Amino acid sequence: MNGRTLFNAAIEGKNHSGRPPLWVMRQAGRYLPEYRALKEKYSFVEMVKNPELATEVTLQPLKRFPLDAAIVFSDILVIPEAMGQEYAFRPSGGIEMKVKLKTDACIEALNSSQISERLAYVEKTLKLLRKELGNEHALLGFCGSPWTLACYMIEGGSAEGFPTTIKWAKERPESFVRLLEKISEALVEYIKMQAECGIDALQIFDSWQALCPDQYLWDWSLKWIKQLVQNSPGSVPIIVYANSSVNRLQEVCNTGCAALGVHHSANLLDARMSLPKNLPLQGNLNPELMETDGETVKVETLKLLDEMKMDPAHILNLGHGIRPGAKIECMESLVETTRNYSMN
Ligand code: CP3
Repeated sequence: MNGRTLFNAAIEGKNHSGRPPLWVMRQAGRYLPEYRALKEKYSFVEMVKNPELATEVTLQPLKRFPLDAAIVFSDILVIPEAMGQEYAFRPSGGIEMKVKLKTDACIEALNSSQISERLAYVEKTLKLLRKELGNEHALLGFCGSPWTLACYMIEGGSAEGFPTTIKWAKERPESFVRLLEKISEALVEYIKMQAECGIDALQIFDSWQALCPDQYLWDWSLKWIKQLVQNSPGSVPIIVYANSSVNRLQEVCNTGCAALGVHHSANLLDARMSLPKNLPLQGNLNPELMETDGETVKVETLKLLDEMKMDPAHILNLGHGIRPGAKIECMESLVETTRNYSMN
């Protein structure tokens, strides 16, 4: 079984091959020397916007490690950028946008039409990748959730706890809803475009869901994700990743998504016990593990694999993106341990 078949079997809850498929978020990134070499010449945004370079960067980890799937090299922030808010990385870390949303007029000025035209570079990258990966490896597209994107758009970048966004959502709900509507409109078109490029699944990142108090969970976050799921072409399974507790995962499921990405703070076995048996669960080793050593990675990976043994709907993943301090020997150990594992 090759990576693509394995991934698609797991996402249908029918993987009886002997091991789960494996891929890793931010497979690219500062921990790979070949990525850092490209970063000497180009900025992150330049690489994202150049389909040949974005394809090369997406494929870099697959050249080193026999992973089963690739996630396109891009960012959730391409949507705000296409709507009129340029972004860059602060040299000290974190995101900085050129403008932040301050008034209702700023929201009205955002452009949510013709997103596919403005994000034609992502379309080109996905088509190149589909060609390169063929049937050997699965290809994932992605986007940010309306709530998570609104957080960055209102704060104008990374911000501890996103306090301005929370204040706006509580005090000016009408214009906040208007913002979520405009982001959703852009995302519906973006998801459709990605689906047409032949991706195997699309992941929606609701990275800041944990900031929504229980009473607002549905109004601020989940309602909008449900709308995206309902408006997406049925051909592409949607995986929702949320930084949330096991208790909340059932709620996330009610969006109608095909699968859940589980953060490393949740216990994956508990999640499995409390959710439908065949619901694909993706996760959830702690990314910090990748900064230890090969032996520790082997032990922890085997522990998770044993816990999830015989689970036909498990996709092995880190519980969040791989960090810049990750060691290559740790990735090697993760891949080797998984590939040599037999569920049977
Ligand atoms: O996994 C991949 O290789 C695919 C591409 C991918 C990136 N970002 C590339 C990237 C994906 C799926 C994302 C998602 C993303 N981007 C999210 C959702 C997931 C999450 O992390 O919760 C968010 C919130 C963003 C926005 C973003 N992009 C942040 C907060 C950062 C870190 C900024 C920093 O200074 O640490 C990024 C940077 C980023 N996006 C990198 C990569 C490979 C690192 C770039 C670099 O350092 O060169």
